[in-house]
Amino acid sequence: MEKNIAVIKGDGIGPEIVNEAIKVLDAIAKKYNHTFNYKNILMGGCSIDAYGVPLTDEALEVAKNSDAVLLGSIGGDTNTSPWYKLDPTLRPEAGLLKIRKELGLFANLRPAYLYKELAGACPLKESISEAGFDMIIVRELTGGLYFGERNTKEINGELVAHDNLVYSEHEIRRIAQRGFEIAMKRGKKLTSVDKANVLDTSRLWRKIVNEVAQDFPKVKVEHMLVDNCAMQLVKDPAQFDVVLTENMFGDILSDEASMVTGSIGMLSSASLREDSLGMYEPSHGSAPDIAGQNIANPLATILSAAMMLRYSFDMDEEAACIEKAVEKVLADNIRTVDIYKEGMTKVSTSQMGDAVVERL
Ligand code: NAD
Ligand code: IPM
Ligand code: MN
Repeated sequence: MEKNIAVIKGDGIGPEIVNEAIKVLDAIAKKYNHTFNYKNILMGGCSIDAYGVPLTDEALEVAKNSDAVLLGSIGGDTNTSPWYKLDPTLRPEAGLLKIRKELGLFANLRPAYLYKELAGACPLKESISEAGFDMIIVRELTGGLYFGERNTKEINGELVAHDNLVYSEHEIRRIAQRGFEIAMKRGKKLTSVDKANVLDTSRLWRKIVNEVAQDFPKVKVEHMLVDNCAMQLVKDPAQFDVVLTENMFGDILSDEASMVTGSIGMLSSASLREDSLGMYEPSHGSAPDIAGQNIANPLATILSAAMMLRYSFDMDEEAACIEKAVEKVLADNIRTVDIYKEGMTKVSTSQMGDAVVERL
């Protein structure tokens, strides 16, 4: 098969980790006789530096006309980078939000799985890490606080800021539908996470999730408040199968879930819509503190590329081949510094990519 992939290397560690994912994709193309054509586009800080905006219309067009988008990460150090002196609509993150919205990528899948080889890197107590866990966070991605109207204005002599949190029925219904479909293919349990004891959007969320649940009688549904969920994730992560939640809660909970898998450098993600076009990116950011050192963990990006093969290209066998190679790398005790433990083989970003390719 021939596929066109829009590639956004982005900022910070982005180029380093994307190069490793492309290395792996090229090896898969060779092994399975596919052709992957890559088209690089700029987004984030690098696009601001080149064009004054975080995402140009031309770059967006390339993404829209591709079969899938592979993204590293965008952004800089929000304390020190000059990008954060710009108007908020011109900052790196505005490019990411724009591409998600313009492509209509409402469903963000973030699988958090504790590889048994990484049990030692999990910060939780041994009785929990040895038992392992396997959950997927299904995060709504194009609504909520991220996309509500916002402003800062002076009222009665002081600045007042507001961010509007909005969800409509159809937005909740389509992500709930996706969550239940995924649950049917997994452990048939869905935990919907909200703040229904306070927020109207959460009360609507709960109502619609219960309606959608009627069509999936085989799925066990529970509703959990988000503060409790944050606690349960470190107390007993094995209780979760599918975690369905809104945009902001999903952002926060997925970083938490990533760390219990051993490192944020392990958590892949897919941003999907109704048809096959999707965007694939690690859940982590541009890690400005370690950029340019060839030490970042590229596995989240490599595993995101595997998700691209599965969800956008229908290449299940090829995706599983990458996932198995990652498992073998871990079983061979090959580790980047974020998951390294004494006695193991410490490797760089590019050596990790090579190690995966060798095991495909
Ligand atoms: P971050 O995820 O970039 O980094 C948090 C910590 O995790 C850092 O210590 C970093 O070194 C470490 N880390 C992250 N990825 C790693 C990897 N692959 N291997 C090893 N260690 C890794 O979060 P942050 O520091 O809060 O944000 C930095 C910038 O990234 C901000 O500008 C933010 O907006 C942006 N960001 C972008 C995306 C994205 O492009 N999708 C996602 C999250 C954050
Ligand atoms: C993520 C990131 C983004 C988000 C930021 C960079 C806008 O944290 O993909 O998790 O909050 O969605
Ligand atoms: Mn995040």
